[in-house]
Amino acid sequence: MAELLPSGDLITEKELQDLLLWFRKNGIAYPWEDNPTPYRVWISEIMLQQTVVSAAVGHFTRWMEQFSHIGALAEASEQQVLKAWEGLGYYSRARNILKGAVYLTEEYGGRLPDTYGELIRVPGIGDYTARAVLSLAFGKPYPVLDANVRRIAQRLYGRREWGSGEDRALLDALDRVIPRENGGLRSPGLFNCALMQLGQLVCRIKSPDCGRCPLASGCRAKKTGRQAEIPAPKKRTVKEKRSVLILLCNEKRYLLQQRRKGIGKGLWFIPSCPPEKEKDIQNRLAPSEVLPLEKRVHLYTTWRETLEPRLYIADPPEDAVLCELFGDDPLCWVAEDELETHPSPSVYRRILDDIPG
Ligand code: ADE
Repeated sequence: MAELLPSGDLITEKELQDLLLWFRKNGIAYPWEDNPTPYRVWISEIMLQQTVVSAAVGHFTRWMEQFSHIGALAEASEQQVLKAWEGLGYYSRARNILKGAVYLTEEYGGRLPDTYGELIRVPGIGDYTARAVLSLAFGKPYPVLDANVRRIAQRLYGRREWGSGEDRALLDALDRVIPRENGGLRSPGLFNCALMQLGQLVCRIKSPDCGRCPLASGCRAKKTGRQAEIPAPKKRTVKEKRSVLILLCNEKRYLLQQRRKGIGKGLWFIPSCPPEKEKDIQNRLAPSEVLPLEKRVHLYTTWRETLEPRLYIADPPEDAVLCELFGDDPLCWVAEDELETHPSPSVYRRILDDIPG
C-alpha cells in the first residue's frame, strides 16, 4: 500500500526553531492569546471555526465583557447568547456553547476539565477544540489541525490531494515535532498558534509569501514551483434561489418570525415567500403601500439566496391568515426600537437597518 505521508519529520529541529522565532517577531497578539484561560481559549476557538479572524476579535472582546465566566454564561438565555453571536454565522455554535456552559457548571463547578476524554464529552467540543484547549490553555502537547495547518502540510509534502487518512497521519507527524516542554519560545500552545498564524500570514491560500517563510527550505511545493496549485481547489456547487421578504408594517411595528428548526433555529427572520407567491399574498394583505428595499444576498451552506425585501404598509391581518401565509413558526409584532434586541442573521439585520425612518 502506498504510504500516506513520507516517514521523515514534517519539519526539522532547525525549522521548528525558525518557526517559533518567526512567530515571536511577526505573530499577531490576538486578545485571546494574552491570558489564555481555558474558558477564553474555548470561546475563541469556537468563534474562529468558519469565521475570519478579524470578525472574531470584536465579538470575542464584547463576549468576555458580557459573560465573564462560565457560570455567568450558563445563566444567560438562548436569545442573549444568540444576540452576542450575531454576525458570526453558524448559530448552532452559540447554542452549543450555552449547552456546554450548563453542562460544565453542573458537572465541573463551571471549569473546563484538562483531559481529552472529558473535554470531548462537553456539548459542542469536538476533536479540534479539545486539542486547542489542552495545548493553548493547559500546556499539553496536543497538536491542532485546522485548514491553515493542513494547507501548510500539503505544500510541505507537495500533496495536491488530501483525505481523512492523511489528516490522521499528519496529526501523528505533528505529534512527533510539537514541543513537549513549556518555557521560553517553546510550548505546545506557541507551536500550534505559530503554525496557524503562518498559514494566515505567509502560507496564504492565494499568493503565499514564500520569501518570508521559516519552513521554505524543506517545502516541496516551493521547490517545484507548484504553490498556486497546492492544495487542489475545492469543488463547490452553489445553488441559487430568489425569495421575496414581506416586511409587514403597522403603526411602526414590524412582523418578524422566529425559526423553530434548521440552521437559523432561535433567530428572527422577515417572513418570506417564493417570488411566484407574492401576488397572492399581496391580494390577501391588501397593503396601502408597498416600498421596495435594497436587494441583499444571503450565502449559507450551499445556497446563494437573493433576498428582495418589500415594506408592506397594511392593517394587521387575523393571526389565522398570517399563519396560513407564512407557516407555523411563531410570529411577533415588534416595535421599531425593539428590532435590535431580536437576534437575526446579519443580512436580515442590514435589511431592518434599511427601513426608512
Ligand atoms: N485560528 C484558529 N485558532 C487560532 C488561533 N488560536 N490563533 C490564530 N488563528 C487561529
